[in-house]
Amino acid sequence: MKTINLQELTNRVTSLVREVGGFILGEYGKVGEAQISEKDHNMLVSYVDEEAEDRLIAQLGELVPNPSFLAEESESIDLKTDYRWIIDPLDGTTNFLHQIPCFAISVALEYKDQIILGVVYEITRDEMFFAWDGGGAYLNGRPIQVRQIKDLGESLIATGFPYHDYSRTEAYCQVLKQLMRQTRGIRRMGSAATDLAYVAAGRFDAFFEYSLSPWDVAAGSLIAREAGAIVCDFSGKNDYLFGEEIIAVNPAIKKVFLEIVQEGFG
Ligand code: IPD
Ligand code: CA
Ligand code: CA
Repeated sequence: MKTINLQELTNRVTSLVREVGGFILGEYGKVGEAQISEKDHNMLVSYVDEEAEDRLIAQLGELVPNPSFLAEESESIDLKTDYRWIIDPLDGTTNFLHQIPCFAISVALEYKDQIILGVVYEITRDEMFFAWDGGGAYLNGRPIQVRQIKDLGESLIATGFPYHDYSRTEAYCQVLKQLMRQTRGIRRMGSAATDLAYVAAGRFDAFFEYSLSPWDVAAGSLIAREAGAIVCDFSGKNDYLFGEEIIAVNPAIKKVFLEIVQEGFG
């Protein structure tokens, strides 16, 4: 079998993602309340998420041999093959529906359980973040890296507030209290994929959130790692793709950041 050139494949994925981003942007501001469904408490979806996902799946299916898919809006396909696309067609749906201009497409490719390619496209700012395994991380074609900082006092932190699973809200608020005091501030963008991409670009120095799904973090975690961030779960281990909790952090503050998260979450 011909070996896959990951850089070339990433180029093809970014073109496709840009095209689907154009479709999403064309629908921005046009979705009425009657066209919004609630999959579960506060989990919103519209025809835009579904149509974007269908377009991505149709075309990504052509790019690697015999792929399977793990995509937010589709029935999960049990059969898993060596190559698997992990897709969030619209990360930041609530922002999109409320006309807050921060939402992204997130596409990752897994090969035998390793993420080997990641693309996060922040649509309204036309910012294409991408990385492939061992190839570094890029924003609109320029290499990106985590920021040079010395300590937590210089850091800007991103997170996602609990909006669906409130089981760990107390612990979460403990962590927020500490971070409010010890950092330059905390931001809640409303798109986990964008948060991770921003850590990679050195805009944020750390991101943490619980109750996330693989499609929220698959692409962004590779981009962050390739830019020099450490990505782990709240125990400092590697179970962040399916473990529903993630930290992406600048190595300069990893120790202290992890201590604060672990103190809060116990
Ligand atoms: C959500 C966004 C949000 C995060 C949620 C995700 P969606 O994804 O990434 O920032 O806080 O946990 O579910 O539902 O907009 O694709
Ligand atoms: Ca998402
Ligand atoms: Ca989504």
